[in-house]
Amino acid sequence: MKKEWWHGKTAYQIYPKSFYDSNDDGIGDLPGIIQKLDYLKELGIDLIWISPVYLSPCADQGYDIADYYQIDPIFGTMEDMDRLLEEAKKREIGVLMDLVINHCSDEHPWFKKACADPEGEYGKYFYFQKKRDGRLPCNWRSYFGGPVWEPVPGSDWYYLHVFHKKQPDLNWENPVLRERIYDMINWWLDKGLSGFRIDAIINIKKPQMFRDYPADREDGLCDMGTVLADASGIGGFLREMRDRTFRPHKAFTVGEVFNAKDGELADFAGEDGYFSSIFDFRQTVEGKSVDGWYAARIPTLEDYKRCCFESQREMEGIGFYSNIIENHDEPRGVSYYLPVEARNTKGKKLLAALYFMLKGLPFIYQGQELGMENMVYTSMDEVDDISSRDEYQVCLDAGLSDAEAMAVVNRFSRDHARTPFQWSGERNAGFTKGVPWLKVNENYREINLEQQRKDPGSVFTFYQKLIRLRKDPEFGETIVYGRTEPVLETESGIMAYFRESEGQRILVAGNLGQEERILEIDGADGEACRILLSNGENVKVSERGIVLEGLQVVILLFIADRM
Ligand code: GLC
Ligand code: CA
Repeated sequence: MKKEWWHGKTAYQIYPKSFYDSNDDGIGDLPGIIQKLDYLKELGIDLIWISPVYLSPCADQGYDIADYYQIDPIFGTMEDMDRLLEEAKKREIGVLMDLVINHCSDEHPWFKKACADPEGEYGKYFYFQKKRDGRLPCNWRSYFGGPVWEPVPGSDWYYLHVFHKKQPDLNWENPVLRERIYDMINWWLDKGLSGFRIDAIINIKKPQMFRDYPADREDGLCDMGTVLADASGIGGFLREMRDRTFRPHKAFTVGEVFNAKDGELADFAGEDGYFSSIFDFRQTVEGKSVDGWYAARIPTLEDYKRCCFESQREMEGIGFYSNIIENHDEPRGVSYYLPVEARNTKGKKLLAALYFMLKGLPFIYQGQELGMENMVYTSMDEVDDISSRDEYQVCLDAGLSDAEAMAVVNRFSRDHARTPFQWSGERNAGFTKGVPWLKVNENYREINLEQQRKDPGSVFTFYQKLIRLRKDPEFGETIVYGRTEPVLETESGIMAYFRESEGQRILVAGNLGQEERILEIDGADGEACRILLSNGENVKVSERGIVLEGLQVVILLFIADRM
């Protein structure tokens, strides 16, 4: 496999609004990120992805862009952005921005001009249609609820939005639009970005005709997943974009790609793929339902293990997934995947090691390195996320009580991950001296960086050690490039795998349950193994096997001449 500059990196996602507020207006900002670069360095990060900071009315927290060439004043100025790039570079940290190009904001000048004349030049940047026989052009359901068609006020035109109505879809079939997008991407790359995380990209190719699909809910509408499965030809757009922008800049790109079709993995993330990497969302979609959140099931740790191994097998020999346990669209990983009795420091480290050591590029979402947890919401007044609002309504429509609907929101809300970063035990967790834009999790007195930094047994210190392993000259190569070989795969309550390369094997073994377990693994005896890391008091390796306490995880290096 051809080596790329980004293969050995550890990446970190920043949700800027909630990271650090430098001017006490309650909103995290770019100067706040600059102030915390040394912290990220201390953790061991070498690539950061910053969620959108472009000019935006913030209907979907910046994922609705009104000007791709401006920084929103809540986050700072373009000078702040330039300074961030400079300061990051000094610390050898690469910066990825979020590339939101399936749609823009309805407040973008392109859209305003388009609405004024849907049949004119700018009308072709979007999708405008009229009703046919009194009916909308098709019955697709927007991701945030309701039909994808929204009337243009004062006319009989409708425009298409697969997300919120304030996020009109850009028409990628129009080569003029594509050129403007490529110009914008190159403008940012020329500034010195290392690359992009690419938002919702699978949506840019719609099926040829706007037509109805079988309704899958009582609203008579059809899920976008079904619609997109019927689209073909996205490769033409993505290859063109890559060749015109990313490739000449040697940029790193990671696609937010849900439901790639079977057999398309190499097209998306192979050596000659459209992107450098794509996120592994297998465990994220596990248990989800087209009926909505209320009908979804939370995966067990057994499901989690199966998903990880399926993805690792699928990607072997093709490329690198980007691995996550959470992001700004998901609940906190430790609250989601760990059963209640395992939601403690030991369990959090177990989950950390199991995902971090998989083959691929590890992404840490801000606060994950502290083991930050979900909020407890008692009323919708405390919830900001538009997706949670829609799903709450879906619950009520399905006949759930308010309390039941709140329970559903508590399981899946995107706001769990968006609460301010817990820097210290001070007021507002040290995030701001003002009023935070979103409520701080009450548990900040127990879970915060200041405390964990001092504690050699903290989740934070454990993440630091995991990152260091990845960079170790002696076995880092195996962690980055080695094959993943599951072991004792059918044994329930155990998740274990080797990472193997020429002459070296590293075992990662975790006990998912509370009772002690003994693992019989060929070649594992006290002399042949070196302990690289564990979350347990002690690691017992003997002829009997590897003894794991409840929730213990170990990372063992098998010494080469004994193999
Ligand atoms: C992606 C983003 C999400 C956003 C959506 C629309 O899924 O991660 O936060 O709401 O795209 O841009
Ligand atoms: Ca601020």
